[in-house]
Amino acid sequence: MKHLTQSMASIALLMLLTADVIAALPPAFEGRKLYVSHCLLCHGIDGKGNGPLAKKMQIKAEDLTSAVRSRSDSALHKIITGEVRDTVTDRTGHAQIGKKMPKWENVFSPNQIKAIIAYLRFLSTSRHTLTGDPELGFRVYQKYCSICHGKDGDGNGTMTNLIGIKPIDHTNPHKTDKLANEDLARSILDGKGRFMPAWRDILNKSEVDGLVSYIRLLYQVWGKLEDGGLVIVIRSPTMETNEETTRSLLNDTSCGSADNLSKKGKAHAISIGKKFKSRGVPVELALTSPHCLAKETATIAFSQAESEEYLTSAENLSEDQAESYTSQLEDRIGSFSGKGNLIIITHESNISTLSFQSLKEGYFLVLMPMGGNEYEEVGTYKLSN
Ligand code: HEC
Ligand code: HEC
Repeated sequence: MKHLTQSMASIALLMLLTADVIAALPPAFEGRKLYVSHCLLCHGIDGKGNGPLAKKMQIKAEDLTSAVRSRSDSALHKIITGEVRDTVTDRTGHAQIGKKMPKWENVFSPNQIKAIIAYLRFLSTSRHTLTGDPELGFRVYQKYCSICHGKDGDGNGTMTNLIGIKPIDHTNPHKTDKLANEDLARSILDGKGRFMPAWRDILNKSEVDGLVSYIRLLYQVWGKLEDGGLVIVIRSPTMETNEETTRSLLNDTSCGSADNLSKKGKAHAISIGKKFKSRGVPVELALTSPHCLAKETATIAFSQAESEEYLTSAENLSEDQAESYTSQLEDRIGSFSGKGNLIIITHESNISTLSFQSLKEGYFLVLMPMGGNEYEEVGTYKLSN
């Protein structure tokens, strides 16, 4: 057994020489980098408010591990950019500092602010502390672990498919959250099961601590969906085999045609359903475009599909019609509340009116209802590989 895990490690070492190392960075990981360079000085490395500059300036920086819990993303956005420094907190700390500090709104892009907020959420909700440097962890992970665990940590590495093993999915909170930092470190040092190699002789302590901290930040990706109450927008599949058939199917809502979803499309729908289920993401309701491909995807993935006229592909609609459908959709999203999440399967042209960025293939959009026809964008996440 020991021999096998050791030789697995050397195979992995060999293969990583050719591994492609471009990963989609989790927002909390990006956010931590910005936090360390811009916020740590006052709020402290652990967010508790005792950074070195706060001590020097004799100011009481907020304890972010508790303060941000009751704040919405948009309130945090305003505090960080300085829009309402004193009205939101009812205090003037950031406002006074603001005179001496650059305005964050000119420093950070909207995506960077989102990333900072993701990290603040981590600080205020995680049961585990970061004892190592996640940036070091990220580099080591891409180098040694991604070959099996995948570049994004979701368990889908090159090696996985090659030899048919199933490494733990590090983005799944159900799998990682119950393990203490020490448990994760022990598995990394000593290996686990038949195929997880032991890294004791290859990695030093700070690399292992860094890896554990990086894995903690991967957790963020799915964390929010578990609690329900959010809206998940998924792109209706387009038929992979034949563009012409896809086009005619897009105009067909009778669903009588023999080729609705292709084999590949069916497999994709099954994997969507599995992915949500395995992460314990509760689904309250699945609304779909009346088009067959969307309906069939919902039925396969979530065993339900309630079709709505306003989710019809906006591509061939008159401007007035499209506008009216969009406003119905915005009402539905903004006013949603539920224990589970609301799934919406619709078309690219409809989704592009909901979000400023276009939704990449294989990703889904998460929105948080704010009442009426208002909602906030939580982020876009990877659906499949
Ligand atoms: C120069 C010191 C300093 C820096 C740098 C700083 N802050 Fe603050 N921050 C403070 C102080 C002081 C307060 C308390 C404000 C008050 O009492 O009004 C505060 C309050 C906050 C609050 C409000 C907490 C609440 O809900 O009441 C948030 C959020 C926050 N800071 C985030 C950040 C972020 C994010 C950064 C980095 C981009 C940052 N701060 C950088 C000093 C600082
Ligand atoms: C050769 C493929 C492979 C490589 C390379 C690999 N792992 Fe794993 N890993 C696995 C498999 C398979 C499992 C599932 C083990 C089991 O539970 O049977 C696993 C499980 C884990 C676990 C969960 C252990 C637990 O306690 O449940 C952690 C943490 C982990 N790997 C971290 C890493 C880190 C960090 C690296 C890089 C330094 C790495 N792995 C490299 C295959 C691999």
